[in-house]
Amino acid sequence: MDGTKETVGLKNVSSVCSISDMDDFDLSRLLDKPKLNIERKRSFDERSFSELSNGLARGLDNFETTYSPVGKSGFNTPASSARNSFEPHPMVADAWEALRRSMVFYRNQPVGTIAAYDHASEEVLNYDQVFVRDFVPSALAFLMNGEPEIVKHFLLKTLLLQGWEKRIDRFKLGEGAMPASFKVLHDPIRKTDSLVADFGESAIGRVAPVDSGFWWIILLRAYTKSTGDSSLAERPECQKGMKLILMLCLSEGFDTFPTLLCADGCSMIDRRMGIYGYPIEIQALFFMALRSACSLLKHDEEGKECIEKIMKRLHALSYHMRSYFWLDFQQLNDIYRYKTEEYSHTAVNKFNVIPDSIPYWVFDFMPTRGGYFIGNVSPARMDFRWFALGNCIAILSSLATHEQAMAIMDLIEARWEELVGEMPLKIAYPAIESHEWRIVTGCDPKNTRWSYHNGGSWPVLLWLLTAACIKTGRPQIARKAIDLAESRLLKDGWPEYYDGKLGRYVGKQARKYQTWSIAGYLVAKMMLEDPSHLGMISLEEDRQMNPVLKRSSSWTC
Ligand code: GLC
Repeated sequence: MDGTKETVGLKNVSSVCSISDMDDFDLSRLLDKPKLNIERKRSFDERSFSELSNGLARGLDNFETTYSPVGKSGFNTPASSARNSFEPHPMVADAWEALRRSMVFYRNQPVGTIAAYDHASEEVLNYDQVFVRDFVPSALAFLMNGEPEIVKHFLLKTLLLQGWEKRIDRFKLGEGAMPASFKVLHDPIRKTDSLVADFGESAIGRVAPVDSGFWWIILLRAYTKSTGDSSLAERPECQKGMKLILMLCLSEGFDTFPTLLCADGCSMIDRRMGIYGYPIEIQALFFMALRSACSLLKHDEEGKECIEKIMKRLHALSYHMRSYFWLDFQQLNDIYRYKTEEYSHTAVNKFNVIPDSIPYWVFDFMPTRGGYFIGNVSPARMDFRWFALGNCIAILSSLATHEQAMAIMDLIEARWEELVGEMPLKIAYPAIESHEWRIVTGCDPKNTRWSYHNGGSWPVLLWLLTAACIKTGRPQIARKAIDLAESRLLKDGWPEYYDGKLGRYVGKQARKYQTWSIAGYLVAKMMLEDPSHLGMISLEEDRQMNPVLKRSSSWTC
């Protein structure tokens, strides 16, 4: 049926080696990297950054392949050039202090960071817990600063929690499910610590944290790459933990698509926001977790079987996402002219999308140059909203082809006011309002238009934007975004999110001293200072796995 089918075929399982070989190669290069500590942060300076950005602009799109260790590199990194010649931004020291204050200890070992350290807020809710997704930027900050211990303890503790029997009412959850969050209870009398975890059974709306397991695998790879210590990932319990997570999402069912079917509120957007179905955030994380697992799983009998399954899914998933979730000017025009009610294999409009369902805003929003992965695709439904996290993860995991990654960055540049405005970065664009808001959110007062998950601006997304900018060779965009954050974040007390079309107002119910806003800023700064950090959170395109897919060829048979 599809002209490209031969090349996308599932036979190419031999490329397993290419992924893991490549990964090992990257790892060995990163091992040469000198250990960083807090002193390193003080070496950041604007002049060396501009030199660096020139170097990056000259062609860092294949970052991992052109990278050579700091000191030997062709362009001047801040570390090798003007160390100590300029003071770091004063916010950096404040941010480290606040990050350290948020650390949580279990039997005297650091195991994570709480979501927010906001004493002024009347309601604590669950912001005093360690969230798996929230801990990721904290973990990266600690890894980049040469402090891997807390990350190791976190990975092992959450693995123990995965082993718990999980129930909601009378229903038992899948074995591999990872918690959304956990809390350490200190008993001052008995002087003991114990853990409580939330797998969705206490969460508002009883939402399932589908992203937690994926973040766990991605973090295990980051830890391995940054420390060079593969013994943690090789432990039998880590291998088993990964396989359990994978079993949950690789099992066969009634699905006709390789994407993962999810309920609403299954990710960072953990309230009803119309992301049910096949949300881009989960699909991109799923892809990245599959690729990460490929490089971490041992090649024993069981491991090989698992890797084979992963490879088949990766082929199908990348084909599906790149063909059907991708939207650019040409594609939009094609959908606009779609015929409907086509039956059989020859259908062009495979999901029977009715052109009248295309929202008006997207015609103006779409630049002539640029594109993005839309929010969701399922029968007769395309959610055209832009979601920041999914698109950045698509770039970092190389779910996006090189051309697509460039187009996403073109779009961000062309629609800067809409997507970044005065505070990076909008979680989703545009906001939904009025009747649609009533229907889609169920009248959620927290998710009113341009607030919170409904078009709010989240500083935590800065690290993802920065990583995507470095990978695509456009650090100057990250610099612009960081400047915006620096003009407000500390002064406003590190809010969780901002409201308004331009993100000018501290969010209606935003926590202050939100840990991932703090850590996200630090990670963004450290990555710009030393782009070799990118390797722990980025995967190069596997050319063997990825057929060159012309957008139009996926839509014509
Ligand atoms: C909110 C956010 C969620 C985050 C949690 C803790 O529920 O929607 O993404 O993990 O707060 O910060």
